[in-house]
Amino acid sequence: MEFTSHTEQIDKTQADLLVARFFEDSKTLDPLIKRLDVALQKRISSVFARKDFRGKLGEVLLLDTEKTIAAPRVLLLGSGKKNEFTLENLRVSIAAASSVIQRFHIKNVAFVLLPVRPQNSSVEESTQAIVESLLLSNYRFLPYKKKDEESPPAEITNIQFILSKAADKLRVLKGAKLGEMLAQTVSLARDLGNHPGNVATPSHLAKHAADLAKAHPKSIKVKILHREDIKKENMGALLAVSQGSDEEPKFIILEYQGGRKTAQPIVLVGKGITFDSGGISIKPSDKMEEMKYDMMGAATVMGIIRAAAELKLPVNLIGLIPATENLPSGKAIKPGDIIRSRSGKTIEIVNTDAEGRLILADALDYAKKYKPSLVIDFATLTGAIVVALGDDLIGAFANQENLIGPLKAAADLTGEKIWPMPLEKSYEEFIKSDFADLRNISSQPRIGDAIHAANFLRQFVDYPWIHLDIAGTAWATREKPYRPKGATGIGIRLTIEFLKKIKKIDFGQSIS
Ligand code: BES
Ligand code: MN
Ligand code: ZN
Repeated sequence: MEFTSHTEQIDKTQADLLVARFFEDSKTLDPLIKRLDVALQKRISSVFARKDFRGKLGEVLLLDTEKTIAAPRVLLLGSGKKNEFTLENLRVSIAAASSVIQRFHIKNVAFVLLPVRPQNSSVEESTQAIVESLLLSNYRFLPYKKKDEESPPAEITNIQFILSKAADKLRVLKGAKLGEMLAQTVSLARDLGNHPGNVATPSHLAKHAADLAKAHPKSIKVKILHREDIKKENMGALLAVSQGSDEEPKFIILEYQGGRKTAQPIVLVGKGITFDSGGISIKPSDKMEEMKYDMMGAATVMGIIRAAAELKLPVNLIGLIPATENLPSGKAIKPGDIIRSRSGKTIEIVNTDAEGRLILADALDYAKKYKPSLVIDFATLTGAIVVALGDDLIGAFANQENLIGPLKAAADLTGEKIWPMPLEKSYEEFIKSDFADLRNISSQPRIGDAIHAANFLRQFVDYPWIHLDIAGTAWATREKPYRPKGATGIGIRLTIEFLKKIKKIDFGQSIS
């Protein structure tokens, strides 16, 4: 894809489509648009006058320019109210433009960049948001479809930005490139989640990690622990979950070094259940096919590491991914079984479907050896978080108050929303077992489970820590702007934004 930015006259710009944005509460046209209106023989003023187009968020109107200007089509793009214009609203409006771009197989599109920018955003950030949304809206998952059945969306080959200020040219290109890279990274994560469980196995995730390291030989290292290595590490919880499956479990370690050698790393942990049947505590068959996305935590971690390497972020990152299937068989764990986790703590498995917290327990314990400044885990952990927060908010738990603020700031910028959840100490009694140190589900069934799961994980942590429950947000069962149905790849853009600002954050001393 080629990006160009220029201050050429709008009516002379060669493109298949020219996109110009409008606000519903804007009384006057920007000088750049006024020029366009004149060239179009006042077509823009007249659709406004007739109220055929008002500029509401996501509203689109396609005009045929009838050779009055160089481009054959102009798309009027509604951007809502000026004082509500955020980066996310910009993405939402671009998603609407994207459906027109797809329908007309537009290859060369030109965006008119007005001086009005989304709130709290730089030129780079707003261009980045345009490209992100355009490419993520265009995402399709087609490897298993006959070629002619649903033809892939038309490839956009050229994106132009028409500016009023020449000084912004380079910044615009920088933002566009960044948006492209992030969209590609998120698309890779979506692919991993959309691939079925018979393809996206633990070995497949390990191969993906190895490919990442190969593509960035200078900055990313990979190490895969196989069953024997996992045994040597005493990861009894991961082994227990995997014992019902014929697929080999893997424990994937990725290392990205972007900071000083001695700088304490940030560890990212991702749940990698490549299919969650529930095991002996088997799930109902309705929607069970969706449980192939129970590895989106793993996909998110790999995406963050890829993006960090592409961006050369000045931080050190470690990615830890426990990967296995959760299946019933004659060898599978049973309710009542007691296992010993890597930490030494014993766990009574009361429900084999609460497997995510088991494999994460070993990974969170393993993280201690890096003396991390911060650990963030990403996990499609509980159905309860879906009930509590729906499909658009990530449940964010943290053992230090000061971690949530910066995360929320990153959420506001990226549109990957979080909501703070409590690590309620008084609930810890519900995960105590009569027979072992811990039980893997609450003794009070069915209530507050997102909190119990987080409290369970907390038992394995002695560093500043954020737990993101992405069960509701990692998969879309309805179309959302720039997120088609299926795996969403949420968490990558959020965390990259968070990491970019990390220097200013003091994580303080380790607590649990
Ligand atoms: N992977 C599921 C959580 C999940 C549910 C993810 C819905 C995405 C959508 C997890 O392993 C699980 O099964 N959790 C159980 C825990 C329960 C047995 C305490 C749940 O939430 O039902
Ligand atoms: Mn489960
Ligand atoms: Zn699961």
